[in-house]
Amino acid sequence: MMGTKSLVAFVLFALLVFEGYFTEKVLSATVTYDHRALVIDGKRRILQSGSIHYPRSTPEVWPEIIKKSKEGGLDVIETYVFWNYHEPVKGQYYFEGRFDLVRFVKTVQEAGLLVHLRIGPYACAEWNYGGFPIWLHFIPGIQFRTTNAPFKIEMKQFLAKIVEMMKKEHLFASQGGPIILAQVENEYGNIEGSYGVGGELYVKWAAETAVSLNTSVPWVMCVQDDAPDPIINTCNGFYCDRFTPNSPSKPKMWTENYSGWFLGFGNPIPFRPVEDLAFAVARFFETGGTFQNYYMYFGGTNFGRTAGGPLVATSYDYDAPIDEYGFLRQPKWGHLRDLHKAIKQCEEHMISSNPTQVQLGKNLEAHVYYKSSNECAAFLANYGSSLDANVTFNGNIYFLPAWSVSILPDCKNVIFNTAKVVSQRTLGDSSFSATTSVNDFILEPSSWSWYKERVGIWSNNSFMNSGLLEQITTTKDTSDYLWYTISINVKENNIPGQEKELFLHIESLGHAALVFVNKRLVGFGYGNHEDASFILDEKITLNHGNNTIDLLSMMIGVQNYGPWFDVAGAGIFYVALRDLKNDTNDLSFEEWIYQVGLEGEDLDLDNINLANSSLWTTGAAPPVNQSLIWYKGRVLWH
Ligand code: GAL
Repeated sequence: MMGTKSLVAFVLFALLVFEGYFTEKVLSATVTYDHRALVIDGKRRILQSGSIHYPRSTPEVWPEIIKKSKEGGLDVIETYVFWNYHEPVKGQYYFEGRFDLVRFVKTVQEAGLLVHLRIGPYACAEWNYGGFPIWLHFIPGIQFRTTNAPFKIEMKQFLAKIVEMMKKEHLFASQGGPIILAQVENEYGNIEGSYGVGGELYVKWAAETAVSLNTSVPWVMCVQDDAPDPIINTCNGFYCDRFTPNSPSKPKMWTENYSGWFLGFGNPIPFRPVEDLAFAVARFFETGGTFQNYYMYFGGTNFGRTAGGPLVATSYDYDAPIDEYGFLRQPKWGHLRDLHKAIKQCEEHMISSNPTQVQLGKNLEAHVYYKSSNECAAFLANYGSSLDANVTFNGNIYFLPAWSVSILPDCKNVIFNTAKVVSQRTLGDSSFSATTSVNDFILEPSSWSWYKERVGIWSNNSFMNSGLLEQITTTKDTSDYLWYTISINVKENNIPGQEKELFLHIESLGHAALVFVNKRLVGFGYGNHEDASFILDEKITLNHGNNTIDLLSMMIGVQNYGPWFDVAGAGIFYVALRDLKNDTNDLSFEEWIYQVGLEGEDLDLDNINLANSSLWTTGAAPPVNQSLIWYKGRVLWH
């Protein structure tokens, strides 16, 4: 039997082990909310968050980007989850490399930051098909994002899959992990009206489904005024100071504050001045906001065919505080870091009370947060866009430039004004540029080689169809390219009016097309991000006898936004020949031959292992000003 002494010693030992275990391993936290803020372990928090989408960079650089985010004053990293790359084939999952979600969340955790996981599974995000797998489109009877049984089964399954995965890895806050918040759906409120009563039922179902997954952290639905309790409806926009949640028991949260914007091909490169961004953030916290997320804090790159559409560019730089290559964008990053520090200094006051508003003049106001009757923090705002002003507050005079907010953590001393950028103004990231510059990369001029793509049908897996086919249904998004080919025999009287000179009229849902007549390029048409459809009218000459018309229809990112975007479609839907007398021969219902993809894709020409293959022509000068050439060059880094 164990003696009393040894029993005491054993209990003590057990307690020590037990306690050590808990303090070292399981720093679990409860996350709830009240009308002011998210409440972590019983304490209201003022949180700065930033979006970083894990597949828009690589696991090797995640730690550095997250470190720079932390140094910039962020508390939380937000990301969507990208269903179509995690489940490329129904039931087959992929979580490797850039898609290693668990590794990403753990990397954030290791840096000591928190995570907002927007599982969706609809993402939008200028991501191909908004993050939906293409196979979903082919499930019989499916209708996306409404109260439709086949869709709900798949959506629930994926939500549950991700939640289970996070639980298994102990990544929710209650398990000691960094995830404090989760999102279901995305901005459904913008398009709900188009789905009628089905939309309303779907919102209720999505909310119930999310809650039933027992994540133990709050769920949000952004831009969703009718988000049912306990889901928090949040604001997205360039400014959210006027936003109020749909219940007095929910906090005022901002899930997308645009640091810039995404780039569409042909559009100017977006830019948002940091003075305006800082003004928007300060106004939000001034007027009672307690959580704000930069969309994007680091945008990165749309690798491969991940870009959404139509015509979203490969760069997702977004004019974000960390640029596409991971360098600090100054003075944006620095000015926001200073802003975050200033707001942090007010945190204890901000979590103690609602702000008290004081009118100071036209377009001039103060909001005061009281920690006790004689301890306060204040925000002074001039929200007029053209006139600077002097205001009197608490017996002191303060200069407020137009469109600016000053922060006074003690209600007296201004430690920050959003319009006064005093942080470092150098371009780029000095620590990096000291070691690497563009001059370190050399494109070897003599290294060019090329491959001439065949025009029209190039394999025996082409097929025939009477009439024009919609492109996405035909390619199943296995390629951006689809050849539409038709043979035309010109005999006397075959073409109305007998002329050989004709107009070829083409209408396309998008996104771009090259037109070849008898293998010669005669036209090029394309849409833009706002409207991908286009019409082409080309004057052409046909020979007597056989002619071919080859149309190469090209997709530049599958649509990712809007009501019923999933059935928007792409490709050519009307082709006609018109003679000079305006008689029209509609070819839309004739026999067309189809070929999915390019020969070069089939040959795997972009595979680095084929860099030295004899498929590539080398030696002579590469062809210039010709269509459909694959070029390969070599860049040396030294
Ligand atoms: C929002 C959407 C984001 C992203 C953004 C534009 O409406 O929620 O996912 O698409 O627009 O970059």
